[in-house]
Amino acid sequence: MNQNSLKKAVSQAAIDFIKTNSVIGIGTGSTIGYLINALGSIKHQIKGVVSSSKQSTKKLRKIGINILDLNEIDYLPIYIDSADEIDSQMCMIKGGGAALTHEKIIASVADKFICIIDISKKVKTLGTFPLPIEVIPIARNFVTYELEKIGGIAKYRQNVITENGNIILDIHNLLISNPILLEQYINSIPGVVTVGIFASRRADILLVGNYNGIDIIVK
Ligand code: 5RP
Repeated sequence: MNQNSLKKAVSQAAIDFIKTNSVIGIGTGSTIGYLINALGSIKHQIKGVVSSSKQSTKKLRKIGINILDLNEIDYLPIYIDSADEIDSQMCMIKGGGAALTHEKIIASVADKFICIIDISKKVKTLGTFPLPIEVIPIARNFVTYELEKIGGIAKYRQNVITENGNIILDIHNLLISNPILLEQYINSIPGVVTVGIFASRRADILLVGNYNGIDIIVK
């Protein structure tokens, strides 16, 4: 089994958490690509999906799944997404696919956040994966200097403009011992739209695809 088979297996396992005739929120990325394929088999049993990106929307439309606007719904029972890293407290780094702002908004609306990962994403301390931050273009240098003050090395993600018209800075060299505090601090820097630390809104249920099967961890 390789990493992609684990992503596929864990996506299939997530289908069991979807209630008939409900709306679900979904994230972005290769794991979610497998989830969308799996959703094809139950598409007549769900009301629709709130999508976090054009990439996911395109795939969902292709298999005939109804797309709903977040502002049109009054209750979102679950949000399913993957992560770049997750720790034992269910705090995550997300944003590898640059969709972090929409992901954080939809995840915050949802009653339960179900995170689906292959085993390689589980870490003791967040920060080996460079931390993505969505930034308003004019603030690029300012945010870079502010992050240098706390030991971060910001690298501008070349040729990426988010769906909100912003840029992404990937922050290297940060060992994140207190995800809640760092999330609050970085979000308070003028020009930062969203930091890819998901600690205030962390996962409630974690499904991990590993080489012996699927582990289910509930917060
Ligand atoms: C996108 C994300 C993704 O969940 C994260 O990058 C994991 O992606 P993949 O499933 O491709 O490993 O946060 O913004």
